[in-house]
Amino acid sequence: MDIRILDAGAGTGLVGKVLYDLGYRNIDALDISQKMLDEAQKMNIYKKTFCAALGEDAIPGIDDDQYDAVICVGSLTIGHVKPNALDEFVRIVKPGGIIGFTLRKDVYNESFNRDIYRETANLGYRAKMEQMVKEKKWKLVQCDEIDYHISMDEMRAKCYSLMYQVL
Ligand SMILES: C[S@@+](CC[C@H](N)C(=O)[O-])C[C@H]1O[C@@H](n2cnc3c(N)ncnc32)[C@H](O)[C@@H]1O
Repeated sequence: MDIRILDAGAGTGLVGKVLYDLGYRNIDALDISQKMLDEAQKMNIYKKTFCAALGEDAIPGIDDDQYDAVICVGSLTIGHVKPNALDEFVRIVKPGGIIGFTLRKDVYNESFNRDIYRETANLGYRAKMEQMVKEKKWKLVQCDEIDYHISMDEMRAKCYSLMYQVL
């Protein structure tokens, strides 16, 4: 399948591998860490890689409306990718395209254990997602509640798997 997908916060490429095994062949990877991208590239499944920080400025080297879909697993969370990265996903995905991501339920609800994360500020993922609906930048097409970190008991959590369509 030739639709163009960006694996944002690709890490070592686990998500890209799943997509590749499903038949997708036009996948790029983005991560803040070149070391992660070097690992991911060993799988020979990504066409291009971008070493860039999501949630800061516009991603250098990616023009508007370049992708049919962005997928971002495990990266939109405390200490990683901030909510304003969602604006950037909308910029680079074509109208009608899909933005899929995971978000821990406690992070969405801002009810996480602050002692563990040592964070005090509001995170703002939920507010950002709702604001973008109101602004008609995207619409929710699917939301599933799934288990997260199932192999590590102390980290076990509920998580939303979300899909929005760019308007
Ligand atoms: C928990 S890992 C998830 C990796 C992969 N998506 C997976 O599911 O296996 C989070 C990844 O996000 C990357 N990351 C963290 N902050 C980032 C940022 N601001 N911009 C881009 N990537 C970031 C990290 O380097 C790491 O590879």
